[in-house]
Amino acid sequence: MNQLLAIDGGEKSLKRNFPWPIFDEQEVNAVSEVISSGKWGNPDCGDEVEKFEKEFAAFCGSKYAVSCVNGSVSLRLALIACGVKPGDEVIVPPYTFIATASTVIECNCVPVFVDIHPDTYNLDHTKIEAAITSRTKAIIPVHFGGLSCDMEAILDIAKRHNLRVIEDAAHAHGAEYKGKKLGSIGDAGSFSFQSSKNLTAGEGGIVVTDDDDLYAMMNSLRNVGRIEGGQWYDHYNPGCNYRITQMQAVLLSQQLKRLQSQTEKRNQNGLYLTELFKNIDGILPLVRSEDITMHCYHIYIFKYDASKFGDIPKDKFVEMLAAEGVPCFKGYPHPLYKQPLFQNRNFMCYAIPETANYTDVFCPVAEAACSTDAVWILQNGMLGESEDMDGFVHAVLKIQGSCG
Ligand SMILES: Cc1ncc(COP(=O)(O)O)c(C=O)c1O
Repeated sequence: MNQLLAIDGGEKSLKRNFPWPIFDEQEVNAVSEVISSGKWGNPDCGDEVEKFEKEFAAFCGSKYAVSCVNGSVSLRLALIACGVKPGDEVIVPPYTFIATASTVIECNCVPVFVDIHPDTYNLDHTKIEAAITSRTKAIIPVHFGGLSCDMEAILDIAKRHNLRVIEDAAHAHGAEYKGKKLGSIGDAGSFSFQSSKNLTAGEGGIVVTDDDDLYAMMNSLRNVGRIEGGQWYDHYNPGCNYRITQMQAVLLSQQLKRLQSQTEKRNQNGLYLTELFKNIDGILPLVRSEDITMHCYHIYIFKYDASKFGDIPKDKFVEMLAAEGVPCFKGYPHPLYKQPLFQNRNFMCYAIPETANYTDVFCPVAEAACSTDAVWILQNGMLGESEDMDGFVHAVLKIQGSCG
């Protein structure tokens, strides 16, 4: 018998909320102590930022970590340190947050969009080589939703074409590929600590690397071009003040203590949810290969087939699912190249060549993901209990049952 949907006034499938961020008096005390100390930031005001950077680098298995104000600036630091020059091309996916591509513009470089793979929604490595030209300098693979890209294939292409690889790991704190933490595999790995992210201080970013030269340049660029051992008013590189505060650093240190167990929980829930979803006609979870030793499910993504749900459009389905109490979202409305920034070439002061024209770009998989296919379950939901995963499935079946 059909049950009345929550969107129509029926009972919700899930009665609980999924809080985020998770914190207790540890966080409150840590931030409070910094406030009481009066040592809130540079210069010469405590070593909490450095301490957190060391902790995060060790967590990732990287030699260095450079914190900064957000996960867009961290991408920018990595690009500039990698030596991109005006007019250079950088390969990016079109199904990601704008920063992956807009930071390329901010470096006076040209984002070149390569479609995502239909099984993973990550950069389709089989299409990368066709997009490489003599101007290509770097690839930015985004581990979308926390699912690792095929790093072996991408590193192989990069090696053969002498390209730098900057991992956009904004969604991927704690996730792994073949036992290695994401972010630690390419030349540099960039993370965001914005409030929705799996590790957060409200805002913030960090970039990890093993490369001594990249580290020295990124460290300088985020600190107004100063160099280690230099004087406060000596500036060597065209940087800016991108430093974080001591309050952010201690908050991140506390949150980092929770990250591993939270990641394991999301990973467990994701595996369980995929098993359950496999039995529902019209719900197709993204494919997770054997190489993914840990998925952090910043976003759990499944493909929705409206034809198995009485042709309810995706956006309406997501509204119905949200009303049932599932923390979900319909995702990006368009692939990035459709944004006015690219369609209208609103490149302002940036030195982007006239040849960079986005009106003819069309990536069919990203188009379908945006318009009809991709449904996101958010990371706070993935921190629920296994009964909550049962509840997500119940909600989907309830909606499907109402379409008959
Ligand atoms: C894939 C991706 N890259 C980069 C960023 C930029 O991070 P921030 O918002 O901290 O600048 C985000 C933020 O949502 C993101 O999702």
